[in-house]
Amino acid sequence: MKKTTDVLILGSGIAGLTLAIKTAEARPDLKISIITKVEQGESNTRYAQGGVAAVWNKDTDNHQKHIEDTLDAGDGLCNEEVVRIVVEEGPERVREIIDWGTRFDKDKSNDEEYDLGKEGGHSENRILHYKDLTGWEIQRALMEKAKSLENIDVYEHYFAINLLTPHNLGYNITRVTPNIDCYGAYILDKTDGDIITFLAKITVVATGGAGQIYRNTTNPTIATGDGVAMVYRAKGRVESMEFVQFHPTALYNPAGENPDFLVSEAVRGYGAILRDINKEEFMQNYDPRKSLAPRDIVARAIDNEMKKSGSEHVYLDCTHLDKEGFYRHFPTIYDKCMSLGIDPMKDYIPVTPACHYMCGGIKVDTNGRTSIRRLYACGECTQTGLHGANRLASNSLLEAMVYAHRIHFDIIKEISRFDIKYEIPDWDAMGTMEPKEMVLITQSMKELKEIMSSYVGIVRSNVRIKRALDRLKLLHAETEELYRSTAISPQLCELRNLITIGYLVTHSASMRRESRGLHFTTDYPEALDFVDKTII
Ligand code: FAD
Ligand code: SIN
Repeated sequence: MKKTTDVLILGSGIAGLTLAIKTAEARPDLKISIITKVEQGESNTRYAQGGVAAVWNKDTDNHQKHIEDTLDAGDGLCNEEVVRIVVEEGPERVREIIDWGTRFDKDKSNDEEYDLGKEGGHSENRILHYKDLTGWEIQRALMEKAKSLENIDVYEHYFAINLLTPHNLGYNITRVTPNIDCYGAYILDKTDGDIITFLAKITVVATGGAGQIYRNTTNPTIATGDGVAMVYRAKGRVESMEFVQFHPTALYNPAGENPDFLVSEAVRGYGAILRDINKEEFMQNYDPRKSLAPRDIVARAIDNEMKKSGSEHVYLDCTHLDKEGFYRHFPTIYDKCMSLGIDPMKDYIPVTPACHYMCGGIKVDTNGRTSIRRLYACGECTQTGLHGANRLASNSLLEAMVYAHRIHFDIIKEISRFDIKYEIPDWDAMGTMEPKEMVLITQSMKELKEIMSSYVGIVRSNVRIKRALDRLKLLHAETEELYRSTAISPQLCELRNLITIGYLVTHSASMRRESRGLHFTTDYPEALDFVDKTII
């Protein structure tokens, strides 16, 4: 079955929704279709706690300071032009989402001003937030705004499987084939199992992160790297996948949760202190900025303390903070701790690092164009050059909005050049059978998470990386066999995509023979003078 649209957007987080709203408002004559694999409100965006970094108080802050903080966190691999673009254009994009109905907390003593928070690596207070539910508030406002626009259709419970390229017309495409075009995507309607050939003049990947490759992650279960894997399969360019960000302070819950609950960095910005298992402060041994050093440094320090003591967590001490202020800023974190019998005002909160953010992804230029024509990408699935080797806290939501804005301009300029490619054949399910044993998929998923967590986590080595590659190869072969013989299911597609992401992370890690930012290997503990990017 075929469907057509002008602009096909895969994903309904901050990146996909912002782009849809802007394009729909600028061009009411265009039909915009958003595909999203569960309910549209479920995304990494929805779980964002700390907020959006933007230069807001011009008396104390300026663009240059935000640029320098971003470059410093990125450890020599940021693209300076991109950093300047995002920092300088960011505040205007924040103003727009406020105009669309997003609320941010105001200063308690002055209702005219926003209450600006601080997080690791920031030299100034510049984080706009809504309690500890910033992402939920943004997601809500964007969904309401999108709903008010008649030329946006949202397809919930539709799963994007593969991008459509000349490969689907029988052409042989390789990684060096020039001028590959994208004509849309094969989309699985999860409610009835039909696979739709969704044809579009322009396609945008906004599918978010891939935290689910690890056992412990703050990312919800939708974060399976589908977009990056699809672009990689379509022979598009992917970069910097070795830079996986672990958040230092996920709540340690011995019962196990997926996702892990985050204790926002803003809590440390508010004055909380990290302590080891003996309740002693330790961050002074690692960085003069102590608990507010950039994330790579704090996560590695915690990992080291845990390894030294053999414990499964360290502590976050909030007991010296005032209860009224803490509850006003962090009601969700307070309630979650209390539900587990931890009173943050009396007890230390047990915390542990968890996979949080992919700094690498689909390579895009400053207009969000990928290496494939008629295909754009924005949000966490991309590598824009902003984050380099380590993302500065709260720069991600900002980056997604700035790139969505830039892409909408480019789409408006370009779209009249493109037609719908009706010749693309429908999905061929011949020779496949209904899956008999779901356990094959769930067990492989567990194995993947074990491999990545044990061998390609915060601290890496040549031996660990080689082990991971050997085991991933086997998992890949078994899963491809299953994919060829079994009818398509979202679970199988997600497993296949996660294995691809696991491979890309591990392979990129094997190519970086130095330690830099989020990539630390005991075999090459120093950074090299000459740095390069990993292109796959
Ligand atoms: P997402 O918001 O993840 O949206 C992706 C969308 O794509 C979803 O709708 C998903 O269902 C859909 N999708 C995926 N695959 C498919 C498929 N195959 N078919 C159809 N649909 C698909 N960043 C900050 O800047 N500040 C913060 O305070 C902050 N806090 C965070 C806290 C947590 C707990 C987490 C997990 C992340 C946090 N981040 C924060 C990071 C930030 O939230 C994300 O990077 C950002 O929201 C990503 O937005 P996105 O639109 O790119 O992707
Ligand atoms: C947090 O609130 O600690 C997350 C912020 C981020 O990931 O940018």
